[in-house]
Amino acid sequence: MKKIAFAGTDGRTLLWAFVVSTATSALNDDEYAGMVFRGTPSMPKFAEIMNWPVAFIPTKDNSAEGYAAAIVEALRQEAVDYVVPMPEGLLFEGLVDAVEKEGFGDRILGLNAAAAFIEGDKIACKELCMEAGIPVADAWTSTDAKDYPTILETCLAYIQQFGGAVLKYPYSAGGKGARIILNSWEIREVYDTLINDYKDSYRKLFGKKNAWPLLIESLMAGVEISFTILVDRQGHYQILPTAMDYPERFEGPASKSNPITGGTGAVSPHPMETPALLEMAGNTIAEPLIQKMKQRGLLRPAILYPGCFVSFDGAMNPIRIRVSEINIRPGEPEAQPVARRLRNLGQLIQATLTGSLHTVVPEVRQDQVSLCIALMTGPGGPDGQKGYPWSCTKGEPLEIDTKYLKRKGIQVIPSAMTWLDEKEVFKSDGTRVAFLNANATIKEHETCGVIADRLRKKLLSAFDNGKIRVIPREDSKGNRLDLRRDIGSHYLKAETIFNPK
Ligand code: GLY
Repeated sequence: MKKIAFAGTDGRTLLWAFVVSTATSALNDDEYAGMVFRGTPSMPKFAEIMNWPVAFIPTKDNSAEGYAAAIVEALRQEAVDYVVPMPEGLLFEGLVDAVEKEGFGDRILGLNAAAAFIEGDKIACKELCMEAGIPVADAWTSTDAKDYPTILETCLAYIQQFGGAVLKYPYSAGGKGARIILNSWEIREVYDTLINDYKDSYRKLFGKKNAWPLLIESLMAGVEISFTILVDRQGHYQILPTAMDYPERFEGPASKSNPITGGTGAVSPHPMETPALLEMAGNTIAEPLIQKMKQRGLLRPAILYPGCFVSFDGAMNPIRIRVSEINIRPGEPEAQPVARRLRNLGQLIQATLTGSLHTVVPEVRQDQVSLCIALMTGPGGPDGQKGYPWSCTKGEPLEIDTKYLKRKGIQVIPSAMTWLDEKEVFKSDGTRVAFLNANATIKEHETCGVIADRLRKKLLSAFDNGKIRVIPREDSKGNRLDLRRDIGSHYLKAETIFNPK
């Protein structure tokens, strides 16, 4: 039995551990146990209530040093065989380097601090992509964020030539640093908002006097699709199933009142995934990227997560793919529906660390769709909080009908939740409190769109009937949680576009 531990404090961390422990391969009898370093305070209790075979190892605190100490100790004691850090912050802070230094580099997955710029510095990543011949936006430039006249000229030129411009704070921003400008009226307001959001970070990094690097890209047309790629130290790789992220807080295009969040839900596969698309992503992105990383001495066993724009023809064949950014960790929550369609996640992670990914192919439940809906803190509270992703009220109790949810095949993954021993109650910690996950099998004579929509309605009905709720201070019958109701509706949408009856 190989023990694989995931390090971090979010939903994907627990879910990957759960999948490693419980999914069964049709081709391989090896056994795996999934574990979690740290997690959130609610997770051990929730796993106990649900009888989930996931063990937890505490860390002193949430810092890279805290994780490194616990990881090295567990590896020494042989309590764990392999470790997968999930949040990019741990890689930026040198967690992998610290574990390597203690002689356990072959047991931990992830890039070291010197390679983490691939996610942590979008300008340096763009240069790497150009060197590797990986297609990116047609035009891009970097400039001083304080130099408004240059930014104005660039935006006007990109709007004229490409229909829009994207301003990007180029350092780690949890997926929230990109701002789209579609017409000249928006330039000043978008610029001001970005500067306001990141001036403190800029000051911390560069001081007041030095230039503040800003990336400006021409707008890319196409559908946003991300690829989770496992790569081993030899450069062998496997692309996991795709997912579609729902980054905007509400349905509809992003705007000032509909901001990009960390992710409000995800579905797998992406409604436009085809074998040809995966092949294109492998040839056009994974291979040149891995070759370039090898050449530059940056390659380690890792998870690469490039976000791309894909253009299709009328038969849904991909005709062009371009990279928008590359993350070095799985997406949250995209990694949840991705893992729920995999039968051999444990074996894939072991192969990533033993350099044998060419011998293990992802065993994907091709006949299943998987939906993941984030339950976010909604508006209201003692200070009139606006709710996620703005200010969130915390400390309100949760009520979860675990029996009902289990009977309906709905999995709850706790995230920003705590457990109060003395009161025997889960309490909300604000932001994304929990995730609802469910899979459905596509049967003959029914389309993926119909099945996914039925699944979406099942999840919404559980929510609408109060089967999981955060009880607001001011209304004991209410629910502080909120969700997006369109997650999973895009399969039907894709079918009406590409296969109209
Ligand atoms: N859901 C966006 C991300 O993980 O980057």
